[in-house]
Amino acid sequence: MAVGIFDSGLGGLTVLDAVHKRLPDLPLVYFGDSAHAPYGVRDAADIFDLTTKSVERMFEEGCDLVILACNTASAAALRRMQESWVPRDKRVLGVFVPLIEALTERQWGDNSPPREVAVKHVALFATPATVASRAFQRELAFRAIGVDVEAQACGGVVDAIEDGDMILAEALVNSHVDALKRKMPHPQAAILGCTHYPLMHDAFQKALGADVKVYSQADLVGESLADYLERHPDKHGTGQGVKYLTTGDPIRVSSRATQFLRREIKFEAA
Ligand code: DGL
Repeated sequence: MAVGIFDSGLGGLTVLDAVHKRLPDLPLVYFGDSAHAPYGVRDAADIFDLTTKSVERMFEEGCDLVILACNTASAAALRRMQESWVPRDKRVLGVFVPLIEALTERQWGDNSPPREVAVKHVALFATPATVASRAFQRELAFRAIGVDVEAQACGGVVDAIEDGDMILAEALVNSHVDALKRKMPHPQAAILGCTHYPLMHDAFQKALGADVKVYSQADLVGESLADYLERHPDKHGTGQGVKYLTTGDPIRVSSRATQFLRREIKFEAA
């Protein structure tokens, strides 16, 4: 029994790393669907099918709680999964809410009506599917009023990261930030709405400028998972260590993961 962390590929490792640092004794299973990444260019039906297949595999691995550490799956598939697919004894949670709560200065589970917040101009960087879903804007509208969100679909960045081509990834980040700034010249905050993007945090910060606060999910999800497990200790799991599963080539995926997390990571075939 373990907590599952799912992503279309390597991006969810940014969340896994933060969760592991915050909760070092928590047994974890990481599942990256690298054979089918990127999800961000697929339609919602396809993303639902791929995500449910992966999560099913994580249930078989003994996960009672699975975190979709993938905004694209959270945006395109999570609601349908929770309404009609997740078995009663399992939980599947997404990664948007902790980020939006941080942006809107809310405590976990504060469901009071939307109110004005300090930040007024927010840049959202995410995959094409996440941007098209408008899921961020919807979640934000439940909690805040008067926030202007400009979204930039960052085509190509996930592919470049999955390929380990960080020079291309940085060039793409620069061009997406330029495109965003043409639409919103002075964002106060930027949301990295894809779990691959924290790997490019410094490139985003440099392109945006030091005065823009950049929010990324990894630490926020670690904190809110710790809080969730305190309230639901039955979901903690009794296994040990971290298991890494991939639908891609385990040798190639392990070498990228080791490069990104700067410690040895060994994936097994899913
Ligand atoms: N890490 C995924 C996300 O957070 C990337 C999606 C993709 O595969 O395009 O959206």
